[in-house]
Amino acid sequence: MLDKQASKKSRIVVLISGSGSNLQAIIDGCQHRQINAEVAMVISNRPGVFGLQRAEQAGIANVCIDHKLFASREDFDKALNDKLKELNADLIVLAGFMRILTPTFVTNFIGKLVNIHPSLLPKYPGLNTHQRAIDDGESKAGVTVHFVTPELDGGPAIIQAPVSIETNDDASSLAAKVLIEEHRIYPLAISWFIDGRLSLTHGKATLDNEILPSHGAKNSSNAQ
Ligand code: GRF
Repeated sequence: MLDKQASKKSRIVVLISGSGSNLQAIIDGCQHRQINAEVAMVISNRPGVFGLQRAEQAGIANVCIDHKLFASREDFDKALNDKLKELNADLIVLAGFMRILTPTFVTNFIGKLVNIHPSLLPKYPGLNTHQRAIDDGESKAGVTVHFVTPELDGGPAIIQAPVSIETNDDASSLAAKVLIEEHRIYPLAISWFIDGRLSLTHGKATLDNEILPSHGAKNSSNAQ
């Protein structure tokens, strides 16, 4: 007889606002079994974005919940909240989702909500991270995957990847280099969560029962 538990695939819901290249890396990770889960649905807060086409092409259910159709941030978050509760996902992945979520929303999904941010947090939370790093004369930029908490871009780091800033870099060349790292570390972090190795425990990111340092896991030694 088929073991019901063993046959049940974990379900990921991905929230996007744009091109969805990270979404694509996650879809590919599921298809290649790096991530032992399925993308149950893709939700965009913006209509017509390329990420929705990527979902369509991969045969993944997708919907736009257009934030502009809601009178307030709270109303939008309530609609998103209701949709996500209905989907009963194991993990909610913010992948270029450009909306600030209310503390009420975040608290409802705490421990099941992850984000990718294009800087080495705690440096450069918020927008225009690459230009700000260049303007400050930094030698390194990078990316952070972290658990989402009510503090914007402030949740515990899961993994980071640094990228060198060269003298001829501008914000777009740097963004392109950082994206390559994003597409590598996001599927990896998601696979840890799905495999039950990663959790948010007492407010700390924990991998294989060890509390991760403030910059997250060492990304080479935990790469399997
Ligand atoms: C990425 O740089 C991500 O870190 C940031 O928004 C960008 C989204 O890119 N939050 P994409 O939509 O995944 O291509």
